[in-house]
Amino acid sequence: MARPDRRLYPWAVQGKIAPLSVSHAKGSYFWDTDGNRWLDMCAQLAYVNVGHGHPKVVEAIQRQAEKLPVIAPDHTSPPASQLSELLAELAPGDLNQIFFTNGGTEANEHAIRMARQATGRQKIVSRYQSYHGATYGAMAATGDNRRVFSEPHLPAGFVKTLDPYRYRCPFCTQAESCTLACADAVEATVLGEGPETVAAILVEPITGYSGIVVPPAGYLRRLRDLCDRFGILLIFDEVITGFCRTGKMFASEHWGVVPDLMTLAKGITSGYVPLGAAVVSDKVAAHFEDHYLGSGLTYAAHPLACAAGVATLEVYLEEELAARAARLGERLQGRLKDIEARHPAVGEVRGLGLLAAIELVKNRETREPLSPQRQEVRSEAMAEVVKAVWSRGVRPAFRWNLVIIAPPLTISEDELDEGLDAIEAGVEAADRQVAVSTR
Ligand SMILES: Cc1ncc(COP(=O)(O)O)c(C=O)c1O
Repeated sequence: MARPDRRLYPWAVQGKIAPLSVSHAKGSYFWDTDGNRWLDMCAQLAYVNVGHGHPKVVEAIQRQAEKLPVIAPDHTSPPASQLSELLAELAPGDLNQIFFTNGGTEANEHAIRMARQATGRQKIVSRYQSYHGATYGAMAATGDNRRVFSEPHLPAGFVKTLDPYRYRCPFCTQAESCTLACADAVEATVLGEGPETVAAILVEPITGYSGIVVPPAGYLRRLRDLCDRFGILLIFDEVITGFCRTGKMFASEHWGVVPDLMTLAKGITSGYVPLGAAVVSDKVAAHFEDHYLGSGLTYAAHPLACAAGVATLEVYLEEELAARAARLGERLQGRLKDIEARHPAVGEVRGLGLLAAIELVKNRETREPLSPQRQEVRSEAMAEVVKAVWSRGVRPAFRWNLVIIAPPLTISEDELDEGLDAIEAGVEAADRQVAVSTR
């Protein structure tokens, strides 16, 4: 293993990695500096939604660089104004005011800060299976084990509750159908903490890299009602699920539930320039009309990022990428169901639109994961899966015992099939491991 440069790489034991050096990319593919072509089945970290090298976004960045590459955040600029208008138009309900950041972590930091300032309450309730970002506040809200590397120094005022993860549900896996006991658990947490101390409930409407968990019908509505009953703010982290990924502009639209704050990043510019946003309801924003908004970021509302954002949003609308993700998503989810039926190593497949996961298990009865659900560990069996897929020039994301699939929304049907064929070869490698372990 060798690193190609002097960088320290994220989420890795440095001596054990060999990162690819990538020279260029176009559409659904990227090329490494050795000339190998890779099919990008996870749009990098689920964000290159318009595909690589989209000319409209590239040109918008170039034009803005010539005119006004940077201006401090206490000014505005035409692209920042235009992007705020576009986001207000596209966001559900009365989510009409935008606080720009440099990414998803900062979007969540600011949503949390604004929720606390607006309510005068302290506690943030989030879930164990979640990721909200890498700084201390966002990490305190994070539930999955990426959090443990920041412990025990995390700030106070964060409370965790259980997830609507039906495949491993501690409440009602044995029941015929979901009983929404997962929503009861959130309510019990809020009641246990004292609702008058809770500023916000923060959830990803569909869990991202911590499992790709689609909530049961009625679950998000229950959270909305719970918040309304006790004057708690509802925050949806749509950093992964936003911008057409699940077949709607924002995932919350699948259930018609409008949060009080919504956090965005990734697809907002398709990652071409880093950008995030906390989108705030009129009601929450009203608090800051006569109260000091005590926070800010040097590069917020960066003109280059906002120009990329405007162009990206126009691509979503002009190329109707939400509808495309819904249509291709049916093909993807259908093929995954076939894969599930054929391969004993598959415990469950799940997802919505062009966001999906295959959960691999050692044993379908016991549901023992093929690799532990811990950030820093990969079992030998899972390593074999990765090898089999990579050897076919295809790159989904691998995490825990999951194969995560989130290709560019512009992917063609043939490319999607090419990617899924390679992933199925990886699942076959898992089948062989399962056969070995049960022999
Ligand atoms: C759901 C979710 N929220 C927040 C973040 C943090 O965003 P960023 O890495 O842009 O700071 C991520 C990153 O993967 C994410 O998936």
